[in-house]
Amino acid sequence: MAQNSEFKRTIVTAALPYANGPVHIGHLAGVYVPADIYVRYLRLKKRPVLFIGGSDEHGVPVTIRARKEGITVQDVVDRYHYLIKDSFEKFGISFDIYSRTTSDIHHKFASDFFRKLYDEGKFIEQTSEQFYDEETKEFLTDRNIRGECPRCHALGAYGDQCEKCGATLSPDELINPYNAVNGNPLTKKETTHWYLPLDKDQQWLEKWILEDHQEWRSNVYGQCKSWLDGGLMPRAVTRDLDWGIPVPIEGADGKVLYVWFDAPIGYISNTKELCDAHPELGTWQQWWQDPESRLIHFIGKDNIVFHCIVFPAMLKAHGQYNLPDNVPSNEFLNLEGDKISTSRNWAIWLNEYLVDMPGKQDVLRYVLTANAPETKDNDFTWKDYQARNNNELVAIFGNFVNRAVKLTEKYFDSQVPTCGELTEYDLQTLAEFKKVKHNVESLLEDFKIRDAQKEAMELARIGNKYLAETEPWKLAKTDMDRVATILNLSLQICANLAIAFEPFLPFSAAKLRTMLGIDDFEWDSLGSTDLLEDGHKLGEAQLLFEKIEDADIQPQLDRLARIKAENEKIALAEAEKNWRPAPIADEIPFDDFAKLDLRTATVLNVQPVKKSDKLLQFTLDDGTDQPRTILSGIAQSYPDPSVLIGKQVIFVANFAPKVMRGIPSCGMILSAVNFDGKLHVATLEDKVKNGSKVC
Ligand code: MF3
Ligand code: ZN
Repeated sequence: MAQNSEFKRTIVTAALPYANGPVHIGHLAGVYVPADIYVRYLRLKKRPVLFIGGSDEHGVPVTIRARKEGITVQDVVDRYHYLIKDSFEKFGISFDIYSRTTSDIHHKFASDFFRKLYDEGKFIEQTSEQFYDEETKEFLTDRNIRGECPRCHALGAYGDQCEKCGATLSPDELINPYNAVNGNPLTKKETTHWYLPLDKDQQWLEKWILEDHQEWRSNVYGQCKSWLDGGLMPRAVTRDLDWGIPVPIEGADGKVLYVWFDAPIGYISNTKELCDAHPELGTWQQWWQDPESRLIHFIGKDNIVFHCIVFPAMLKAHGQYNLPDNVPSNEFLNLEGDKISTSRNWAIWLNEYLVDMPGKQDVLRYVLTANAPETKDNDFTWKDYQARNNNELVAIFGNFVNRAVKLTEKYFDSQVPTCGELTEYDLQTLAEFKKVKHNVESLLEDFKIRDAQKEAMELARIGNKYLAETEPWKLAKTDMDRVATILNLSLQICANLAIAFEPFLPFSAAKLRTMLGIDDFEWDSLGSTDLLEDGHKLGEAQLLFEKIEDADIQPQLDRLARIKAENEKIALAEAEKNWRPAPIADEIPFDDFAKLDLRTATVLNVQPVKKSDKLLQFTLDDGTDQPRTILSGIAQSYPDPSVLIGKQVIFVANFAPKVMRGIPSCGMILSAVNFDGKLHVATLEDKVKNGSKVC
């Protein structure tokens, strides 16, 4: 297999986020920061790369958001596209293009792509019955169908899942399905769709992934394997929906391309948009179709099947495209122990973070990378954010740089002093720090972004330790030559940091380069101790990182606590709505119930009341020395009442006595009415003392 560095060009894509809401730290940690680090690294290596992004503006999620907010779908995607684009820019996610799937270029491109496959007979056409709302004249997607859960009977389960018991469902299983938006009952109606026959791709996909791409991350490989082991099935690539790219076939009115068909094509159409505007970059075909070009998809784990199986099958069916070389996918990031959720507002939104924590983009980048959910889910906490900032960025990185620059200012008027003879300790330090370049590089090439950052941080640790142990401030009175050497080496390590951290912390690295007066730099000079010439004038010292106090994160913790409390209230209200059986009678307070004196008794005798076909006369042992007589209207349910003799029953003891058919009845025996109207005397499972209170 070709080495990464042997490819002429690399296309790096980052999953197109749905333009149905702002982006949050989970997006950043899972996809955009790692992709950006990788791209910045390739650029520093002077390897040709394009970083392609954009908003995913079709599909059901945007239409749901529009209905919720009572605005048009176009308004929704406009609002969030620009908000998302702006957040990415401010976090330094350095896309070469960030476009959108509603662009004309994309519509035409995706439409042509579909049409080519259609004309070449690559799809199968199938008609099936789907849920339909007669009033609004629309077919419904799974998520827009609700009804009673067939498993736990919760009301309001979704067509794909019951949120109460967690069961995975299909809309056909729901009891009394209805339209989630307007509550209308649904009927079934025939509809025709086009399917990609993935079953026919099973063989080559197995070889391509399971044999040829064993280097893919284990979570990605594992998910692919389990899809393949399960056997692939044809997948519909069209939908009945009024938002999306119209199916370019005569008679397919009211149908659009499935969002997962058009969105990944967005990577290609956005590349075309970029290359058309910048011919100096080459043609989009060179980037996507030349065998010397390489394709890398950065995605989250819920996107694996689409990028590793479905999209490659589309590319292969088309015939002229390269397949992805790697698909680094992260697992999920949790927030303070709970799953991030847009609908529950359990997230840190990037646009809000930028306002609440101004100028701290690199801190978040650092923490999210240090905690990246590369192979398992991980947790973001504000405490950890604070600790990593204070103990790592401030205490190690910032402290080292600050001391080196400040001491040079103090002793050498901010001019890089000349390096003299090296001691054993200097040489040892240099040997340690020279390893870092190779280590960071090979980790990045392997997409081990978290470890790569940790390794880059080694530079700062080595520098910090070097200064702490050589203590140049103590030598200033006695040995200025030695001080010069120590500071020269320290400044060279600072310059290395300014390069090594360009991919990870682009804002701080730029600040550091300004401080050191470096404007020309490249990855390959990492490890050098000649980055700053003797006498080179440093810029002004600035603080790279600031300590974060408890008071700085308290508002964030308060906000989350507020959201948690709100969510608990909503969940309770929701549960009540779904679970409370419709009350048959008016609600009563507990005190009213407590007025009933319910007690236990054993049936001593029971017989029909003469001239009554309803009444049975019970003689009960109620725990007193007097037998108690109660008449109960359950004769028709007990043709042979003697079966009740010896049973322990429950009766209302403080019922005002009533005379019926000349017999006084002192109380009332409790019975359950079965759905068929038959009465069943309520009995006790275990015997208790007669006269015991029931409550
Ligand atoms: N919008 C999808 C999501 O957020 C990702 C689409 S990626 C693409 O899960 F490949 F389709 F573009
Ligand atoms: Zn259920």
